[in-house]
Amino acid sequence: MSQIVTVPTQPFEGQAPGTSGLRKKVKVFQQPNYAENFIQSVFDVVSPEPGAVLVIGGDGRFHNRTVIQQAIRMAAANGYGKVLVGQGGILSTPAASNVIRKYKASGGLILSASHNPGGPDEDFGIKYNIANGGPAPEGVTGAVLDRTKEIDRWLTVEADDIDLDTPGDVTVGGMTVSVIDPVADYADLMEELFDFDAIRAAVQGGLTMRFDAMSAVTGPYATEILENRLGFAKGTVVNGTPLEDFGGHHPDPNLIHAKDLYDLMMGEGAPDLGAASDGDGDRNLIIGRGRFITPSDSLAMLAANIECAPAYKGRLTGIARSMPTSAAADRVAEALGVPCFETPTGWKFFGNLLDAGKVTICGEESAGTGSDHVREKDGLWAVLLWLNILAVRKISVDALAREHWARFGRNYYARHDYEGIEKTGADALMDGLKARLDTLPGKAFGALVVAVADSFSYTDPVDGSVSANQGIRVLFEGGSRVVFRLSGTGTQGATLRVYLENYTGPDGDLDAETGDMLAPQIAAAEAIAGIVQHTGRTAPDVIT
Ligand code: G1P
Ligand code: ZN
Repeated sequence: MSQIVTVPTQPFEGQAPGTSGLRKKVKVFQQPNYAENFIQSVFDVVSPEPGAVLVIGGDGRFHNRTVIQQAIRMAAANGYGKVLVGQGGILSTPAASNVIRKYKASGGLILSASHNPGGPDEDFGIKYNIANGGPAPEGVTGAVLDRTKEIDRWLTVEADDIDLDTPGDVTVGGMTVSVIDPVADYADLMEELFDFDAIRAAVQGGLTMRFDAMSAVTGPYATEILENRLGFAKGTVVNGTPLEDFGGHHPDPNLIHAKDLYDLMMGEGAPDLGAASDGDGDRNLIIGRGRFITPSDSLAMLAANIECAPAYKGRLTGIARSMPTSAAADRVAEALGVPCFETPTGWKFFGNLLDAGKVTICGEESAGTGSDHVREKDGLWAVLLWLNILAVRKISVDALAREHWARFGRNYYARHDYEGIEKTGADALMDGLKARLDTLPGKAFGALVVAVADSFSYTDPVDGSVSANQGIRVLFEGGSRVVFRLSGTGTQGATLRVYLENYTGPDGDLDAETGDMLAPQIAAAEAIAGIVQHTGRTAPDVIT
């Protein structure tokens, strides 16, 4: 047992964990004591039982290994009995969630800034997940924030860096560190959930796909599962080697950053399915040949067809979606006779519902879909469920989408992001909106008439906790909607997100251009919120 070393420190400003943990520039994290303060604050708040197990892993981005080595020493000094760390410091976020659950760990540190770029001048992040495998709830993150404001020391042991690249056990300050295969447990879980035989048969029969791992964490997972276990041709997985800077790209699976994939899928000779995942493997992009599927639609379509997957047969208890996610899933829930829950943005709000068995599948408009198999959204899981459905139903993505809309109607949908705007302008826009909410119902914006306008507040049906101020909803008669909220994950200035939705029933135009269909909502959003005036921008930076 090595000596515990107490290192004096002082609080830093603004170590508030946001929607997805603490996320800052690498340069910020490189300051002496910065990461240590946050990790120690977590340990102080969760005060592990002596001998508790901690999982550590990340998406392989720049600075990952440095923080992992420090976190291991700190875990030893803080009384953990064992650390499980992914080989190479790698664990995708859903894989980390699975490892926490499978090995009954008390929690885990996930090192990632998700879909944000990586490298010495880019982003880094730390998030703490609890024993159910999911992100810490607000009670914990709030306590961590309070602790960061008063922290005056952190604990470590004197020990050398371990060899992260060789699987096996080593000892650090009396604590066992197991370097584990980051892929095997996760791949086994996927094989339990889905009909791999049906997918393999479909692949034999000619089903093709491309999976773009975006030089991020899912490369090794996708190669093992898609190529080795399911028999897709070598080369199906592209950009499959995790790089510290993601090859200089944004590992964000949307139509801008995964444009190559989109172009491939819209062109001659496209494979049947195109898919991608983000930096840490929790997001997904689904494109069929000639047909992009919005994440909101994907949730609805997966829920409607979930019976195709063996582990979900007869098990759908409910569906949950984040508030800004389109209401497409609500219609499926209604048709299937199960409840649909509307939660605030961020995966952590699904945890209680999943733990209580109230929902089986959940999703967000921001390319996050998942189920009760872990407590994180899961990019590859969504891809595999799509493959399972396509294989069993012997249908194309486009045909499935058309069939779905013909039954449920179509929620045309887009999100407009105004990034890096002045915080004062962003706050003024939101405050102004809030002050005018009462005046909106009954008002007409073109053909759109406001039915309800409110600031979204959520009462957790399981523990009764209330999360207020979760965004402004303006609901129009007929099921269309605009939503305004400020991002909780940005690292520079403020980001305004405007979510636009036009519901068109089964008898309406189901084959129109999304941009055309949303023109009335876009105009209404400007008239209601004064976006140009408050942001100084005449157009969004990113449309997804
Ligand atoms: C964004 C997404 C949200 C997601 C989060 C973490 O948060 O909008 O759905 O859960 O990233 O991936 P935001 O920046 O909007 O707070
Ligand atoms: Zn992510």
